[in-house]
Parts: sequence; C-alpha cells; structure tokens
Amino acid sequence: MQGWTFVDDHGTFRLENPHRTSYLYFPLVNESGLVSAITPTLHGDIKTGQNSFLTPPVSVEDLHSSRAARNFWVWIEGHGAWSATGNSAPQQARRFTEDDEAVVLEAGPLWHRVSRERPDLGLRATVTNVVPAAGDAVASTDAVASTDAVELMRVTLTNISDSPLSLTPTAAIPIFGRSADNLRDHRHVTSLLHRATAADHGVLVTPTLSFDERGHLPNDLTYAVLGSEADGRPPRGFFPDVEAFIGEGGAFDWPAAVVQNLSPSHRPGDRVDGYEAIGGLRFAERTLQPGASADYILILAILSPSHDPGELLARYGTAARFETSLARTAEYWASRLDRVACHTGERRFDRWFRWVSLQPTLRRLCGNSFLPYHDYGRGGRGWRDLWQDILGLLIMSPDDVGETLLGHFAGVRLDGSNATIIGREPGAFRADRNDIPRVWMDHGAWPLLTVDLYLDQTGDLDFLLREQVYFKDHLVERAAATDEAWTAEQGTWQRAAAGAVYRGTVLEHLLIQHLVPFFHVGEHNIVRLEGADWNDGLDMAAERGESVAFTALYAGNLRRLSELVLALAARGHADTPLAEELVLLLDTLGEPVASDDVAAKQARLGAYFAACRHTISGRQTRVPLADLARDLAGKADWLTAHLRRQEWVEDGAGHGWFNGYYDNAGRRVEGPHPAGARMTLTGQVFPLMGGVATPEQARTIVASVDRYLHDPVVGGYRLNTDFGGVQLDLGRAFGFAYGHKENGAMFSHMAVMYAFALYRRGLAREGFRVLDGLYRHSQAFSISRMYPGLPEYVSERGRGMYPYLTGSASWYLLTLVTEAFGVRGRLGDLRLCPRLVREQFAADGTAAIDCVVAGRQLTVVYHNPAGLDAGLYRVAGVRLQGVEVAWVPEDGAAIVSREALAGLPAGETARLDVTLAERTRSPS
Ligand code: G1P
Repeated sequence: MQGWTFVDDHGTFRLENPHRTSYLYFPLVNESGLVSAITPTLHGDIKTGQNSFLTPPVSVEDLHSSRAARNFWVWIEGHGAWSATGNSAPQQARRFTEDDEAVVLEAGPLWHRVSRERPDLGLRATVTNVVPAAGDAVASTDAVASTDAVELMRVTLTNISDSPLSLTPTAAIPIFGRSADNLRDHRHVTSLLHRATAADHGVLVTPTLSFDERGHLPNDLTYAVLGSEADGRPPRGFFPDVEAFIGEGGAFDWPAAVVQNLSPSHRPGDRVDGYEAIGGLRFAERTLQPGASADYILILAILSPSHDPGELLARYGTAARFETSLARTAEYWASRLDRVACHTGERRFDRWFRWVSLQPTLRRLCGNSFLPYHDYGRGGRGWRDLWQDILGLLIMSPDDVGETLLGHFAGVRLDGSNATIIGREPGAFRADRNDIPRVWMDHGAWPLLTVDLYLDQTGDLDFLLREQVYFKDHLVERAAATDEAWTAEQGTWQRAAAGAVYRGTVLEHLLIQHLVPFFHVGEHNIVRLEGADWNDGLDMAAERGESVAFTALYAGNLRRLSELVLALAARGHADTPLAEELVLLLDTLGEPVASDDVAAKQARLGAYFAACRHTISGRQTRVPLADLARDLAGKADWLTAHLRRQEWVEDGAGHGWFNGYYDNAGRRVEGPHPAGARMTLTGQVFPLMGGVATPEQARTIVASVDRYLHDPVVGGYRLNTDFGGVQLDLGRAFGFAYGHKENGAMFSHMAVMYAFALYRRGLAREGFRVLDGLYRHSQAFSISRMYPGLPEYVSERGRGMYPYLTGSASWYLLTLVTEAFGVRGRLGDLRLCPRLVREQFAADGTAAIDCVVAGRQLTVVYHNPAGLDAGLYRVAGVRLQGVEVAWVPEDGAAIVSREALAGLPAGETARLDVTLAERTRSPS
C-alpha cells in the first residue's frame, strides 16, 4: 500500500485515498485556544474548551459511527445529491465495491486539503480547512496578538466535464453549541436553551444558559457558521435547525433539504428557538461551464460578546482573504518549525522530524484533551506533562521559559508533592475540587530535569536562587492526612506561623522534592509507589508498593543537585537560605539518620511533616553550599549502592536487569518467573539515566531488553513482558489486554527515554536503534496508519495510537538535538558532543542541525569526511562563521565559550562548521 509522501521541505505531505484508512485525524489549532480535529471525510470536532463545542464532541469511534460531520452538499441537475466531503449514504455504500472517487489529501503545518473527483458526475471538489494562526494584523511573528477562534473552510467546485453543470450548493455544519458534558447530560434539554438566528451570512446560535459542571450560568458565547461566495456574496437562505434540514426520515448523510432540493426553510432575520441547530447554508444555484470553478468560504466560529460576525466576514469572507490567511498561517508555523530542523542522510526523516517538533506545541495547546483518542481529557494539563513538555519548548523556543518555569514551582507543597489541578496560566494552581487524595511519586523528579536543561541552555544559574511561594490545601503528609485547620478562604499559598505567605528559593523547592522521597521509603528502603509513578496504571499498590525505577531517578537527580550546588559555589555564593525545618532532612548536617534504617527514616520524615503541617515557622537558616552538596552526594551514593546491591536480578541464562517495583503485598515484581521472565522497560531506563547501573550492567541491560522486550512488529521495545493477567496488587494497567497502552505496548515515551538514557551512557548505536525503530515504524503507513509524527503507543497490530499529544515528542526532540547531534548548552557555554552514527551523515559526509542555544539561532554542520561511526570520532576543529574559534576539547567533545557566541549579531543565524576526525586511543 502506498502511504503518504512528502512534497516539500516544510513537511507538506500527500496521501491518496485517505478515506480508506480508519481512525485518521489531523489537528488544526491556534493560540486563541481553538482546537479542531479533522478527518479525510471532514469528520471531527471544533471547540475552545470542555464547555464550548461548536460541533458535536467526538471520541475516536464516533469518527465512523456518527454521521454528524462537516458537510458540503451539491445538488447536481440531472443526478441529484452528492457530498463534496464524501459524507453521503450512497458514497459510503459504494466504498468497498465501486469506490471510483479519486480522493487525495494534502496537509501541511497547519492546514488540510482534500480533493475528491467524480468523472462520471463531471465534478471535482477541493476542500481546504485552516485555523488561522494570527489575525490579519499580525504576520509571521510569535506575537500572536489577535487570533480568532475560527476554523475556515474553502470549497472549490470545478466542472471537469465537457458540458455545462447546474449546481445547487448547501453547506451543512452541525452546531452543538454547548458543553461536551451535555452529550450524556441533558442533551435534549440543553437544546431547548438554543436561540438560533438566520443572519445575512449564516446561522448564529446563542444559547440562553449553559448547564454544565459549573452550574447553570448565563451563556454569552455565540456559535456561528457563516458563509459567502468567492466575492463575498451571502448565501441565499438557511436551514438553521436539524429537524427541518434532515426532514422526516432523513439523516445527516441523506438529508431531505438537499436530496429533495428543498427551498431554504429560513430567510435572514428569522429565528428558531429551542431546537438542535445546524449551519445549513443554501447558496444560489449556478451553472458552471466546462473547466470553470465556483468557490465558497465558510467561517466556523466561537464568538465572545466582543466579537462581531461582521468583522470575521471582513477578515476572511472572500476567496482572496481566505488565501491570505492560509498563506500567513503556513508561514507562521514554518517560521517556528524552521528553528529546529535537521539535515541528515535521510530526507524523509528530516521532514518527518518537523512534525515531531510540532508536537510539543500541540501538547501545550491541547494538553491531553480535545483530539479524538484523548476522550478522557477535559482540558488543563497534568504536572508531569507540564514539565516535560517544556523540555521540547526549551529546544524549540527558549525565550521567556524562565518565567514559566518559576510560575510552575508555585505548585509544590512543603511535603514534596504538588497541586494536581493546573490552570491555563503559569502559576495558576487550584485545590483539587474532587478532593482526590492521590500523589504520584514520580512528580517531584521531573522539574529538575527541565530546570537542568534550562540552566544549561541559558547559563542562568541564579534562577536557582529566585523565590517562589508554595502550594497549600487541606492535604498534608503527601495526601495521607488532612490539615483540619485549613480552610479554602485561607487561599492556596503556604503561610508562615506569623501569617505571611512563605517564599523559598527554587533550589529549596527542588531540595524538598528530592529529600522527602529519600526518607519516604517502604519496607525495602525504596521510595514508596503511593498513587502511581510515571505509569499511571500502577495505581493499586499504594500501601506497600515501592518504585525502584524512580528511586533510581531520584538518586541521579540528588547527584545532579549536588553538582548544581557546587556550581553555585563556584560562582561565588557561599551559602543559601533554607527553611529551618528542612534541615531535619539534611540530616548529615545535624543529627544523622542511618540510611539503611527504614523506621528511623520514616520517623525523621514524620518529624518534618509535623513541623510544616499547617504553617511553617518562616525562619530560615543559611546553609553552607559545600555542606549541602556533601549531604546530597552522600544520599545519591547511598541510594546507588543500595539499588545495585539489592535490586539486580538475573535469569540464570546470562541476562540481568533491575527489578523496577514492589507490589502491594511487598513482593518483588520483576525477575525470573515460572510463566516467563518479568521485566519492565521503566525499571531499566532510570537506573541507566540516573547512573545507578554500572557500565557493565548497562551492557547487560541492553542485551536483556533486546531479549525480552524487543518486538519488530510494534516498532521497538515493549513497556513490559506479559505478566499473564490482572495484577490486583499492582494496578489497573494489567487489566488492559497485553500489548495495549500501559500494559506492554511499545509506549513511545518510555522507549524514547530509553534511547536518551542509552546515549547518556555512551551507547550511541543502541540509542540510535531505538529512535530509528520508532521513526521507521511511524512512517510505515501500511502498518502504522498514521500521519507523520510520533504516536503515544503502537497497538498490538502495529497501529500508531493517540497521535500528536504525547510527551515522547519532547523527549525525541531533546534526544536528537542534545544527544545524537550533541548540541547542548552547558551552564551557558556550548558543548558539541556528536554521537551520530555513520548512516546519519549525508553522502557528502555532513549532518547538520538548526537549533537555539544561549539565545542564538545556530546551524551546526558536522563534517565527517572519513565516514566514521559514533564513538570513533572526536571534534577536531570548530569554525564559527567560517573563522576558527577558540574551543576546549573534552573527551572527544568541544566546549565553545558563551563569549565566543555573544559577539554574533543578534537575530541572525550563526553557522558552526565542526570537523570530526578519528579518535585516538587517549582522547584529548
Ligand atoms: C501518557 C501521559 C503521561 C504518562 C504516560 C504513562 O503519556 O501523558 O503523563 O506518564 O501516559 O501513563 P504521553 O505519551 O502523553 O507522554
């Protein structure tokens, strides 16, 4: 089967007969919060949030089970009704027998076009959809001052026969006009709230009230379907309600209004109150001569009271204005995606990678909601994803990320846990409205990874000393207890005993996030699993479960924190202010606790929890940085040794790996098992990433993961072996059929983090294999059945699932740029440490990446004339803008100082040519 092919370097792709693949959809979004999903038959939905859906909300199965799609009908004299979007009962009926409509999809960032040709009818229809990235006032800049919550659609009908065609066009866009909740909560009753008006150019629906989880509130949004001909001429009449449009016995895919070519039920100025609505727009009948075309522009909008439909018509309502918006939108996205682009030996990869680099932005705009597979999302973003998505954004557009990061630290509680309800604005956290006393034990580990990248890329080490508030609600002791003294009226900022809001440094927040887990251990002296870790599905071991995997990440992080503390000292800081209570957990500075004494650790943590249960004293003590670093490094050392000693398992056949978990019965989860070895990829990734696995163990892990988790059918490494059934002592994930989602699928996020960890451990070829496998599978359309990009996971049958919104894209970006290309800041300097394998270089021996480091747009071109493989070369020369530049060699890599880059003219792209030469035995 022929899959999609790229047609240009922007990533534009073309796919023939896209409608013969199910479950495909494409996102159209803008910064105003409009999110559309669109399929090859223009199914999908359009909304700005959980409570404001313009069209009926869809989950992925609705894409084929519901008939409520965007539609554009043509009544053809002498033939009858035909859907330009392929959504008619007769067209569907022909699908497997005489599907003689030639359908071609073309899509690019971020627009979507489907052409459909029926030679026997003499007609071609081309439908282009776009969500304008910026209002007309703003061209291709980041300053998206005024985006409209609109999706635009242009329909071009062309007579491809040699005789005149008489056509009557009717646009038909179902208008839901309310909250997604109303799909199963008073759907009919909420239609009684609708007030639909036939305006000059379309149908406007302004419900009187909204009934949703917020209560019964006056509604001020207007849901609109406006239309005009190419020159701006309005439709001739309207069908604003579903009943009148479909007729008795009709349906969305065979409506009486079109099939019987009925006259419009309503004229401009008419109203319909209390019915399900539709933007049924009847355009004037016209005769097309052979070769001639007719154009129709539709504006599908969600309008706030300050928005006037007339403005939208003025901005978008002709064919020429539509084209301007389309061009600007394409330019807007291209200018963003151009910032990070790679030029390797495989052009298809380079173009595919553009779509991956778009994904973090899609996740920022959509979270885990609002695309058809993500039918559990209601908007908002989760803590873990929030931080990891910034990894990708730091690579794509690092400007101002510091403020965003600082804002997010306001979500940390003094017990090291964090708020779970995160608002749209940075720093906006809310007390959990559902009172869910749940803590994910991995949450404390992610912010440091993001901050670490931020510090490296910018050199802004003083960021660690900036102050921020803490989050406070009724949950204390990591949700194990309730602070009876807390009331919502006190607000969600932690206060000191004297009543003032308490503020601590970013460093203090990070310390709390890492010191608390060190003491919060279960019976094996491993950090407790609590509500779950990265794997949300490990949620049934809250009492006795422990996560070895994330203990390893915390260990690596404690070591990194100690290094950062020393870096602060090297910049002239002698000490740092810390909450007095925290010194309880910096035990080696005061009264030490034996690290191998579980009860003593728990008791010390209890003392700390007691000291900051409702308020904190507000007193701070200045801790010398050298002492602080020593305490942290000591804890990292102890954990590393403990994990190596206690958690390494072997199968007796030469394989060895780390146990990743203890279950709720206190049993070790992984290792040899009568029904087949048990292994999780997570359990291997973090000992590798956190430096817990020795170099020898790292190699053994690679071989063991290849043996137990590798599966070419799913494009790489599965998340776990088959544990053989439901695990009531571990979590709901094992209720999923094996091979799906968090139970043993090829789960991209963990697979990519595996690649990252392998590169980090110097295993470049092994890391490349993981990244390459993911790419090869995702782009093999006949099996993955997805558009360019990374899926969240690959199903048992090989289909790419949950496309677009996945944290794996951020990690792929991070791994490719900072590990494979090896371009990463180091506290503001530039480190060039390529680990590209031979085949990543083009035929001329070069491989290049465009990226942003230390505020500079760079193009780094590696020259590998001898065609050497990763590990066999070293940096031998660096030229900046064609001139040799000073650099310091470091184990095969080159460090270029920040000063060398500082002299470059701002806003221009600087080119670095880096020559690679064979590595000698003792690298410089
Ligand atoms: C999703 C969630 C992520 C979670 C993971 C595993 O992965 O967003 O927070 O850790 O499932 O349960 P994603 O592919 O979006 O990164």
